Amino acid sequence: MTDVPVLQVDEISVSLSGRQVLDHVSFDVRGGEFTGLIGSNGVGKTTLLRTILGLQRPDSGRVLVSGMPLSPRSRSLGYVPQKIVVDPDVPMRARDFVALGLDAHRYGLTRRSPQQRELVERILHDVDAERFADNRLGSLSGGEQQRVFIAHALISQPKLLLLDEPLANLDPRSVQDIVALLHRVARGYGVAILLSAHEMNALLPVMDRIVYLTGGRAASGTTDEVIRSDVLSQLYGHHVDVLQLHGRVLVVAEPGQDNQDIPQHPTLTLG
Ligand SMILES: Nc1ncnc2c1ncn2[C@@H]1O[C@H](COP(=O)(O)OP(=O)(O)OP(=O)(O)O)[C@@H](O)[C@H]1O
Ligand SMILES: [Mg+2]
Repeated sequence: MTDVPVLQVDEISVSLSGRQVLDHVSFDVRGGEFTGLIGSNGVGKTTLLRTILGLQRPDSGRVLVSGMPLSPRSRSLGYVPQKIVVDPDVPMRARDFVALGLDAHRYGLTRRSPQQRELVERILHDVDAERFADNRLGSLSGGEQQRVFIAHALISQPKLLLLDEPLANLDPRSVQDIVALLHRVARGYGVAILLSAHEMNALLPVMDRIVYLTGGRAASGTTDEVIRSDVLSQLYGHHVDVLQLHGRVLVVAEPGQDNQDIPQHPTLTLG
């Protein structure tokens, strides 16, 4: 681990169709850290991840990866996008899709070396996907596909893995499994993780840091530093309370405030 952050997001502003989506957003991610990018639907999580990847040009600000501007075809970043639609009829095994991650920076077919084949097997094992590795990718459940997508992104051994809402559409048990898996592989592979989600509670046990996004602006730090009434009230521009209940966190606005931008939480059962 070096002192240079693996990712520096420095005063990034982005407008889309004339509307400012991100307004001077700044934060760092250090080697091996797990960072949650938390915000409601439409606050700009995907836009921020696409800007980090160089797929969206910012109006101003800069992104540095290991202290350098991102170069085309950089192997430093792995990416699991929000929307991956797999036709069930595509004749590709999960194993083949993972191996394709080795060719992310090349065109054409490549003959696999024994070392590469070994790497595919190791990663399938590490994400616990061996049992369905020979099934068609499109026939797998959402949770199984998510493991394969993570393996696909990990196999080029990036320094930073960006995951856009990988927990959406999973049941609570699968959410727990995928979070635990990501925590384990982040430690095992020494890869930093930046994961977007609209709900933070499942991530509280594993997050080293949080980037909380609302109204185009971000607050970042440890969860203790950010998930506080004073910090979030300033970010929202109106008073919000942070309630802690059985190890879960709930951000609530006073009645009459526009609550639309507050990430939705599952119903809490009291008593
Ligand atoms: N290409 C585009 N042109 C115009 N507006 C866009 C474009 N892409 C996204 N937007 C708008 O920018 C805002 C941020 O979108 P973005 O997809 O980054 O949000 P998000 O936080 O990822 O939301 P979700 O949780 O629903 O995935 C939204 O209001 C969206 O409609
Ligand atoms: Mg999104």
